[in-house]
Amino acid sequence: MEISKRLLLKSHLKERPRDEKKLGFGDIFTDHMFKMDYYDGAWRLPRIEPNSPLSLSPAAMVLHYSQTIFEGLKCYRHPDGRLALFRPRENFKRFNQSARRMCIPQVDEAFMLQALKELLRVDGDWTPSAPGSSLYVRPTIIATEPHLGVRPSKEYLLFVILSPVGAYYKEGFGPIKIHVEGFYTRSAPGGLGSVKAGASYAGSLLATDQAARKGFSQLLWLDSQEHRFVEEVGSMNMFFVIDGKIVTPKLGGTILPGVTRFSVLDVAGDLGLEVQERNLDIREIIEAQNSGRLNEAFGSGTAAIISPVGTLSYDGNEFTVSDGQVGPITQKLYDELVGIQYGHRPDKRGWVEYLD
Ligand code: COI
Repeated sequence: MEISKRLLLKSHLKERPRDEKKLGFGDIFTDHMFKMDYYDGAWRLPRIEPNSPLSLSPAAMVLHYSQTIFEGLKCYRHPDGRLALFRPRENFKRFNQSARRMCIPQVDEAFMLQALKELLRVDGDWTPSAPGSSLYVRPTIIATEPHLGVRPSKEYLLFVILSPVGAYYKEGFGPIKIHVEGFYTRSAPGGLGSVKAGASYAGSLLATDQAARKGFSQLLWLDSQEHRFVEEVGSMNMFFVIDGKIVTPKLGGTILPGVTRFSVLDVAGDLGLEVQERNLDIREIIEAQNSGRLNEAFGSGTAAIISPVGTLSYDGNEFTVSDGQVGPITQKLYDELVGIQYGHRPDKRGWVEYLD
C-alpha cells in the first residue's frame, strides 16, 4: 500500500524540547503521525499527517466499550547519529496478539514496520541524544464505528504517534518504592492481562492512585485467586535476585510478555547468570528478605527500561531491598541492555533495526 503524505510547512513545525536532559515521559509529541482506517473489511488509506486532534462521533465504540489496544517501543540515536529501533518486529507481533484478543482486525506487521520507518524519516530528527532519552513510539488502534450495541466495531482508526522521552519514573535509574497490592487485582485467568488493552490499564488506576498517595511509584500485583503469587507491575515485569539467582514470574496469560523481559532473560543468560521463570509466592520473597537472601529486585519495561526497586511494602510492613541501592546484577543487566539499545555494546542477536 502506498503511504500518502500531507506534511506541515517548515513554518508550522512545533518548537523542539529546550533541554533534552529534562525530558519526562509522554508529554511532548512530534509534528506528524501515521494514520490508517479500517472499513468495509480492510485497512485503507495509510497516510502521514500533522499530529492533530482526532474527530470522532460521540457514539464511537471505543468511548463506550474500550475496544482499543496499543504498543510501546523506542527509537534510539546511536553514537554515529543513526536511528535505531529495538526489536520492533516483536512489538508488532504482540500488537496483533492484542488485536486478536480484543476482536480488532489484524494488521500487516511488515507493513506497520515500513510505515513506522516512513514516519521516522519525516520526524526521526526529534530523536533526542541525551543519555537515557529516546523517541517513544506509540501505535494504537481504536474502534470508531458510531454504534451503541455491544459487539466488535466494524470500523477502526490505527495511528502511530511519537514522543521524545526521558526516564519513565521521576527517580530515573534510582531505586523506586513499590507497594504489593493485597486487595485489587490487575487480571485474572482468561482476562486481558497478557495483552496491551487500554481497559486493563484503566482498571489499575484506582489502586495505583491510592498507593501513589502513600508515596509509592507503582503497585506489584498478585494473582487474582489467592493474592499470593507475584504477577507484574503494570508498567513493568518483575525480577527478584534470590541467593544470587534471578527469578521472574512465568508467563501464563495474566502477565504481559514484555519485549524487555525477554531481552533481560537473554542478556542474563549471556552474562552467565542463572535465571528461573516460575511461580513466585510473595511470602517466599518476604522470607528471603527477612533471612538476607533477597539480594535485589528490579522491574523491566520499554518505558521503564530496568528500574531497581529499593522499597517493597507488603501487608503493612516496609522492606528495604539491596540497602535501597542499585544492586550489582541490576546494574550489570542495565548496562548491557542499554548498551545494546544505544549502540555502545555489540548487538550479537540482531535486535537493533536501523532506519536505513
Ligand atoms: C511501555 O513500557 O511501553 C508501556 O506500555 C508501559 C506503560 C507506559 C503503559
